Amino acid sequence: MNRMKLVLASAAALMAAGCATGPSAEQQAAMADDARKTAGSLIQQLGGELKKSLEANGPEGSIGVCKDKAPAIAASLSKSSGFDVKRVSPKNRNPKGVPDAWETQAQAALEKRLAAGEKPETLDTWQVVRTSSGKEFRYAKALVTQPVCLTCHGENIADGVKARLAAEYPHDKATGYGPGMVRGIVSVKRPL
Ligand code: HEC
Repeated sequence: MNRMKLVLASAAALMAAGCATGPSAEQQAAMADDARKTAGSLIQQLGGELKKSLEANGPEGSIGVCKDKAPAIAASLSKSSGFDVKRVSPKNRNPKGVPDAWETQAQAALEKRLAAGEKPETLDTWQVVRTSSGKEFRYAKALVTQPVCLTCHGENIADGVKARLAAEYPHDKATGYGPGMVRGIVSVKRPL
């Protein structure tokens, strides 16, 4: 192929990518709203369960609750919302909580925005991405550590809690955090 043909071919490819039918800007904004509500619901339900359990059973007795309730709440929300919902972190505790490439870069971008002074409540991001099987809507919301989180994710974890964590999660990476750090993200996705 000569040079001119090559330039024309890549221009055509670019236009094809731009013209490919996909969700409109309005549709995407509506999906982002839905995803935001779904992530908010996960955070609220889990926070409620955690608070209840910490009061009733203390931190040591609440690890089992996190282990059972967190995946159960995510699964039930996935069913009701039609999104795939989960929590992931580059320093994961749940062995299934390993982020994929999109989630890794989303968390890194949210960490930068937090460092630049953005409020934790508004730290989310979303994108329509291409996959091998088509297009996918992806959304991430940052989970920023509050003091209560440090009981189980901080630097000075009580011995009893530490022992329980070691027993339940032998490959735990989710400790050593301070307040106001991005512990992980709620990751929400849906094929288009
Ligand atoms: C009582 C101990 C405890 C407290 C308090 C706690 N967590 Fe966790 N956290 C856990 C356990 C246990 C898991 C693993 C749950 C599972 O198996 O899915 C976990 C998992 C996570 C995950 C999923 C990613 C991963 O590492 O597997 C995130 C994100 C997370 N916690 C954030 C927080 C935040 C933010 C707070 C404070 C609002 C918090 N946690 C408070 C015990 C706790």
